[in-house]
Amino acid sequence: MKLTGTARINGKGYLEIGGLSVPELAERFGTPLYIMDEELIRENCRSWREAVKANLPRADVAYACKAFCTMAMCRLAEEEGLSLDVVSGGELYTAQAAGFPAGRIYFNGNNKSRDELEAAVRAKVGRIIVDNFYELHLLNEVASRLRQRVGILLRISPGIEAHTHAYIQTGQLDSKFGFTLENGQALAAVKEALSQSHLELKGLHCHIGSQIFALDGYVKAAQVMVSFLEEIRQITGVVLEELDLGGGLGVYYSEGDTPVSIATCVGTIAAAVKECCRELSFPLPKVIFEPGRSIVGPAGTAVYRVGARKEIPGVRTYVAVDGGMADNPRPALYGSRYTALVANKANQLPAEVVTIAGKCCESGDILVSDVKLPRLEPGDLVAMLTAGAYQYSMASNYNRLTRPAVVFVRDGEAYLVVRRESFDDLIRNDLIPAAWAKEGSLRAVR
Ligand code: LLP
Repeated sequence: MKLTGTARINGKGYLEIGGLSVPELAERFGTPLYIMDEELIRENCRSWREAVKANLPRADVAYACKAFCTMAMCRLAEEEGLSLDVVSGGELYTAQAAGFPAGRIYFNGNNKSRDELEAAVRAKVGRIIVDNFYELHLLNEVASRLRQRVGILLRISPGIEAHTHAYIQTGQLDSKFGFTLENGQALAAVKEALSQSHLELKGLHCHIGSQIFALDGYVKAAQVMVSFLEEIRQITGVVLEELDLGGGLGVYYSEGDTPVSIATCVGTIAAAVKECCRELSFPLPKVIFEPGRSIVGPAGTAVYRVGARKEIPGVRTYVAVDGGMADNPRPALYGSRYTALVANKANQLPAEVVTIAGKCCESGDILVSDVKLPRLEPGDLVAMLTAGAYQYSMASNYNRLTRPAVVFVRDGEAYLVVRRESFDDLIRNDLIPAAWAKEGSLRAVR
């Protein structure tokens, strides 16, 4: 078993994170619970910052907050000197509500609405990454109406297949994202962008995928993108100074995962950019990274309480917990595999093979299949590791489950950063047409 950050097993055989025992946290905050190791998040932010500083004269690290977006996380990213990558009006709003400096925000997304673009221009976000021709013209119109000049990057689809799950590959030819390089669309977009009255083309962006272990895709992307920068210079005479290479660095979830360190990842990509620039005598651009998972993924632990058990002799034993695909859709969506342990029996030897099922009304609601664990009894606590990215942020209210609470832990202190949803939160936006109202229904409107 691989514990990261401040996680350890204490003398009582309890999992402990940030100096706090997980069973106590579960008691205090309830389950399911997302526990985030604040020190490890900060350490990961610093690893990114130090790696770019060591390898590149001009660089920026924008935390891709889609991985885990809350106001506290935005504040933490700001404190650690990171910029922020947002992809919706909601993420932008969260960042603004947390007081995140707008000039350090990058706004991504393949179908930003007029309202979202307007909000971003009004806020004066640092860069808008334009994804398509529709958005290019819409943004120019919005910017001109608001009498502002907006710094943009163009998202390029560089035709590179990252070695990862098809659903989270993004750089290949057949992709909904960005301007396609292969068929000349990207060059046409550059020319069109340069001709817009209220847009200032600052550079290019690409993102080849997520949960990537093999760096060759990044190296290829860096080469393709720098070559395209040079092609743009030759054809238009314009030297673009910013190159955003997206995020995607993979992390360890379970056996077989072979992540590369942040330092190696940045070092390798920076070397590829520098070499390609040297070969083409192209001035080294400012290089931007947008890591999400590698900052928060390993710092999160999801804790569930065990309830029912179903044994099918000769087939399988199901142990059900109080969460599931509503708070973590990743196993059902991508077949993701996780490492699980029993937080209150962390040093007991495995005694049986069980399948941890969620409580949603779907057979596919399985969190971990066929895992060897100590004998599980009702009330025991199952901890799923590497739960910090794309779980809380992808959680839903399916089956009207309430979204879990999130706590940051550090040096023996726990800070609640997201309250557990209540049943009242669930019905907050529900309305019953007045004509159907009856005594006893909570709310009747119109
Ligand atoms: N930049 C852009 C433009 C992106 O689309 C993404 C992720 C990132 C940066 C951050 O990538 P990261 O460093 O976190 O890999 N829900 C999926 C992952 C979807 C990733 C979407 N884009 C999952 O749970 O595996």
